[in-house]
Amino acid sequence: MSSQQHAFSVPATLIVGDGIGPEIVDATVGVLKALGAGIDWEYCDAGLAAVKLYGDPLPRSTLESIRRTRLALKGPLITPVGGGYRSINVTLRKEFQLFANIRPARSFLPDGLFKDVDVILIRENTEGLYVGVEHYIPIGDDPRAVAEASGIITRFGCRRVAEFACQYALKTGRKKITIVHKANILKALTGLFLETCQEVGRQYQDRLTIEERIIDNCAMQLIINPAQFDVILTTNMFGDILSDECAGLVGGLGMAPGANIGADTAIFEAVHGSAPDISGKGIANPTALMLAAALMLDHIGQYHNAERLRDAIKQTLQEGNVRTPDLGGNASTIQYAEAVIRRLG
Ligand code: NAI
Ligand code: MG
Repeated sequence: MSSQQHAFSVPATLIVGDGIGPEIVDATVGVLKALGAGIDWEYCDAGLAAVKLYGDPLPRSTLESIRRTRLALKGPLITPVGGGYRSINVTLRKEFQLFANIRPARSFLPDGLFKDVDVILIRENTEGLYVGVEHYIPIGDDPRAVAEASGIITRFGCRRVAEFACQYALKTGRKKITIVHKANILKALTGLFLETCQEVGRQYQDRLTIEERIIDNCAMQLIINPAQFDVILTTNMFGDILSDECAGLVGGLGMAPGANIGADTAIFEAVHGSAPDISGKGIANPTALMLAAALMLDHIGQYHNAERLRDAIKQTLQEGNVRTPDLGGNASTIQYAEAVIRRLG
């Protein structure tokens, strides 16, 4: 065993996924191997690949593997349209109560829009306006004259994600949390979120600065001066929108990793989809999935390996001569992965 290898291997579920999934997963698994991360992968199917094999986009064997390992890395999945399949991502989120969605955005590209972005967005993943409680009200001969949706936010859910955000901030050396809300208009719905997060935040006030910002102002401030943000903590829908904005600040989808965290299970993925327009060509950018793998290493306590991986990605992108086509280069997925491996310190 090399000095970099870990004494015990960590079992984890690996879902290769659809479209560019196999290409970026191969590249990422190769880099993790070169790091000596000692992960013992259980290969599982989901998405279109699983529909072909089992007639189910999320087969029981895959769920059982995640239940066992409590740790998964997943490539992008296609939920077939029609055929009455439930959304895979929503099912996973519900099944494992993955209540926090973490989306870091950091400037790795020296020629990007902003040079100094390093923000972690933490989004409540199970409540709010996305609970799907909505209906139409007919008036006269119009069956859809009125549409009504209910947002549901619980003190329990707010406390759970706020507690998580404070702990995560401390663990990752962050200094400030900005609670993002619209409590001036949605006084009950996001008022409860703000109030509860502040209440939790007060227990950390000796170690963290807790501030609050209204969503619309936050969206503008992110464009004007993104460096002022450290950790953003927000509700499901606001987090959905702001996290894409944050990804845009640092070079777009190819750069955006995500983690879905629950009390005892965590699933890591790239934010982007299966990229059908480039799949099979060997030119997909594996950075987002590699950064997701770095989040996974953080999660299992391999902070040093996570930092080695991020540093190697940063160096590769800063040198600029080995980049995939989406970042203006002409390197293949494999050439890029090899360049990252060469730079692992
Ligand atoms: P997409 O993210 O797959 O692609 C959007 C654009 O970004 C395309 O031009 C694509 O080539 C490019 N792109 C995405 N990732 C890239 C990468 N790593 N390297 C280089 N270029 C990249 O979004 P789209 O086309 O809307 O969705 C395609 C499929 O993916 C759909 O079936 C959708 O349901 C699924 N999807 C799955 C997700 C998941 O499993 N987490 C998330 C988003 C979409
Ligand atoms: Mg979204």
